[in-house]
Amino acid sequence: MTKIGKDIGHAKAILEAGDLVGIPTETVYGLAGNALNKDAVAKIFEAKNRPDFDPLIIHTGSVEQISHYTTSFAPELEALANEFWPGPLTVLLPKKSIIPDLVTSGLDQVAVRVPNHPLTRELLQSLDFPLAAPSANPFGYISPTTAQHVVDQLDGKIPYVLDGGECEVGLESTIVGLEDGQLTIFRLGGIEVSQIKRVAGNVLILPQSSSNPKTPGMLKSHYAPRKPFILGDLDQLVPHFIQKGKKFAVLSFDKVFDEIDAPHQRALSPNGDLKQAAHALFAYMRYLDSLDVDIILAEELPESGLGKAINDRLRRASAH
Ligand code: TXA
Ligand code: MG
Repeated sequence: MTKIGKDIGHAKAILEAGDLVGIPTETVYGLAGNALNKDAVAKIFEAKNRPDFDPLIIHTGSVEQISHYTTSFAPELEALANEFWPGPLTVLLPKKSIIPDLVTSGLDQVAVRVPNHPLTRELLQSLDFPLAAPSANPFGYISPTTAQHVVDQLDGKIPYVLDGGECEVGLESTIVGLEDGQLTIFRLGGIEVSQIKRVAGNVLILPQSSSNPKTPGMLKSHYAPRKPFILGDLDQLVPHFIQKGKKFAVLSFDKVFDEIDAPHQRALSPNGDLKQAAHALFAYMRYLDSLDVDIILAEELPESGLGKAINDRLRRASAH
């Protein structure tokens, strides 16, 4: 059985023994192990059922530690790190050999980030190694934003989850790197495109909607509920599925449907706030997926600010 608690010392002891701990971050919960220990890293892939071509992000307690694990820090990436760390930004940097190849799936760049959650920052600062941590969900399923979400799916596979409450941002980090010398966003996430542009000027966004060899592991179908997840115009989908007599649930941006009972619908943000919508997204997807329904109907959000990253997750959830 997996225990949940707030004991940083206990989490530290487990990690030092080469085992895994669920950790809170401001984005989503991570499934953490000693990034310098190949066996611990192998346990992460195994617990998540994750293919070994999908590389992991390493987490450190401070910007200063990054130079122990990477050979250089391009100025435009360093400027972004200085602006947004600790926070929901991940940077791709050339790795030192101390980072096992398993962490990076054999690539010569490693993804690094300094997360912003008080418990995890304290934990990282007490350790003398960085933590490799993918989102703490089985591969392909919805990312966890509470300690209970982690246990709901990984119970028995890891000894402990450090409980840091609900993740504030609710979306994974934005991943940036250099691609042929050009600043590039590899994954949309908790830092908005406009925030990146404000610091770094122009930035290329890699196509997000399909699998791309440059973003290994970013599969077209991802973040997916078990139930079929249909994305479209709810004002047409809802009457259509009522008429067909289907059991369904609805995930809207801000609308409430009078013809559907309250437990079968969730509005991400009744007053149309994208931050609030991001915070609620994965918890609501999990909730609706747990209902006795055949289908989940959802709509895209405005394609601005965090809406871009939210829509990316919704599209992947619907790509079966
Ligand atoms: O917010 C987050 O980033 C969370 C928390 C726990 O920190 N972590 C997270 O990790 O979302 P994960 O494993 O679910 O997603 C990591 C993704 C990989 O799927 C891959 O697309 C990209 O990061 N990635 C990692 N290392 C890479 C590398 N060396 N080159 C290119 N992409 C990389
Ligand atoms: Mg993930």
